[in-house]
Amino acid sequence: MAGSAEAVPERGAVDQEACGRLLDRVDRRIERLLSAEEARWSAVDARVAVPVAAVAELVAAGGKRLRPLFCVTGYLAAGATADEAVTDENMVVDAAAALELLHAFALLHDDIMDNSPIRRGVPTAHAAYADLHARRGWAGESRRYGEGVAILAGDLALSYANRLAGGLAGPAARVWHELVTEMIVGQQLDIALAAETDPDPELARWVAVCKSGRYTIHRPLALGAAIAGHPGLDAAFEAYGVAAGEAFQLRDDLLDAFGDATVTGKPTGLDIGGHKMTLLVALAAAKDPRVARLVGESRRAGRNPAGLRAALLASGVRAEVEERIDALVADARAALADAGLPHRWRLRLEELAGMVAYRDR
Ligand code: IPE
Ligand code: IPE
Ligand code: MG
Ligand code: MG
Ligand code: MG
Repeated sequence: MAGSAEAVPERGAVDQEACGRLLDRVDRRIERLLSAEEARWSAVDARVAVPVAAVAELVAAGGKRLRPLFCVTGYLAAGATADEAVTDENMVVDAAAALELLHAFALLHDDIMDNSPIRRGVPTAHAAYADLHARRGWAGESRRYGEGVAILAGDLALSYANRLAGGLAGPAARVWHELVTEMIVGQQLDIALAAETDPDPELARWVAVCKSGRYTIHRPLALGAAIAGHPGLDAAFEAYGVAAGEAFQLRDDLLDAFGDATVTGKPTGLDIGGHKMTLLVALAAAKDPRVARLVGESRRAGRNPAGLRAALLASGVRAEVEERIDALVADARAALADAGLPHRWRLRLEELAGMVAYRDR
């Protein structure tokens, strides 16, 4: 008997297997769509396939696939068993693929807005195509050409994302539209706070909640649960996603200021150099007058990234932010307590909160 009990896989292992299988299908779905589009437009003219290739290059360069992960997790945690999954499987795979293509859109445009040369360890689309323009000696400004290609690549990625999300209906469709809109308005507040150099912690937190709490965690979970026909989990997923997402964004801010670019795959110091009023900077400015003064001066006298970075370190904000991350992870985990989730899914989501908060890339 003991031997046969060992042969039966644990429920948790079955869940992980189902999750991994769905995520593999998500990647294949994206690859299929992009290679069909690349072939279709290459047949017209190689030049018109360039933005499709730019999307494919970004997707192929890697990324953590967090939004598909949370979507599929929300779907399975909401009670779609392996059998039920067969019915809605195509829909959740399409929705999770739509989230990753929406993310490609967000990143392509974000890297232009943030003037970033590197993403996922390789040159950003706008930088790579500006470089190509310069090397070929083409007419006009190389930067404008590169940004043109990257804007169009982002537009295409959004269009493909909407195509894949086109089958969503009812609560799932509402979640999708909210998620897209919140991310875009969050990005607008991000650039506005940078332009005005306004280190307001409440507004900085609102940006973090939009671009990470809702866009990265809460809405993908809610989308999966809505597809599984269980939108009732939304309150717990919201409390969990907003807390874990703020922790995720604080880690993103810390990695930008103090991380290792060879591990994160994106440049260090970009937020400070770009006057970003991140929650990290806003909290430091609120606690340390020297940081507040440097932030204020940067608006008039130009940037002093090295000075601001040194002031951030001296302010002790790093330790404070680490404590805040710990508290947010605890809040996220506590938010699951009365959600009525199967125990193993509660444990898995607890684990994921730690994973997004304590990552190094
Ligand atoms: C980066 O997202 C943008 C933010 C919301 C901070 P990720 O950290 O999930 O980036 P990838 O997808 O893994 O590259
Ligand atoms: C971008 O935030 C958020 C979205 C793409 C929605 P960031 O500008 O902080 O992301 P990174 O640091 O460039 O990845
Ligand atoms: Mg950025
Ligand atoms: Mg940005
Ligand atoms: Mg960032």
